[in-house]
Amino acid sequence: MVEVSTSILNVKKGEESATFFELEAAKTDYFHIDVMDGKFVEKDTYEKMFEYASYIKRISNLPLDVHLMVKNIDEAVEDFLALEPNIITFHLEACKNKEEVMEKINYIKSNNCKVGIAIKPDTKIEEIYEFLPYIHMCLIMTVEPGKGGQTFLSDMLKKIETLKEYLEKENLEIDIEVDGGINLKTAPEVKMAGANILVAGTAILMANRFEDIIKELKK
Ligand code: DX5
Ligand code: ZN
Repeated sequence: MVEVSTSILNVKKGEESATFFELEAAKTDYFHIDVMDGKFVEKDTYEKMFEYASYIKRISNLPLDVHLMVKNIDEAVEDFLALEPNIITFHLEACKNKEEVMEKINYIKSNNCKVGIAIKPDTKIEEIYEFLPYIHMCLIMTVEPGKGGQTFLSDMLKKIETLKEYLEKENLEIDIEVDGGINLKTAPEVKMAGANILVAGTAILMANRFEDIIKELKK
């Protein structure tokens, strides 16, 4: 079944806690924590996302889906493991070689946390194949990482389909999460292509009834 992970990147200032309570009541499946370091991507949301995630941890039992858009993955993993997230996802493009990728996968898992690998739009899906047997989720970016509210890149549909076919062929059970520009128009397309976790920020936070949009996205 399809799950929804709400990105809290652009929560309205001053309305943070009300929004988090409302999202929990609206049955988001995860809170998607977009950690940006100002180096891997231009924006720096590091402190803000840590603060938000700490607050959510205190008021909700819903799982944290941490998306690291950072150069120094080890430092961010250390910091965010303290919040006992459900899953930590790091970018393949921030790793120098295969050994480094495997090291991070094993370290995150050894700390009782699920692990995902994210790939940017220009990264070929084949580059992630060798890691699939060791991870829980592949995050396919459907926009350039770095900010919310961007337009969905429909070329990514082929990438999602290719990954889905490969997983079926190899008999691998991992989640396919899509992230960026997901809304009522693009959600059916990505689900058809094989995605089973949809990240949405703008589409949900702009809606006046979170429950309705989350239900619609999951349909
Ligand atoms: C972008 C982030 C996404 C983004 C999603 O770098 O990884 O999670 O916040 O926001 P929308 O749904 O507004 O595209
Ligand atoms: Zn994200």
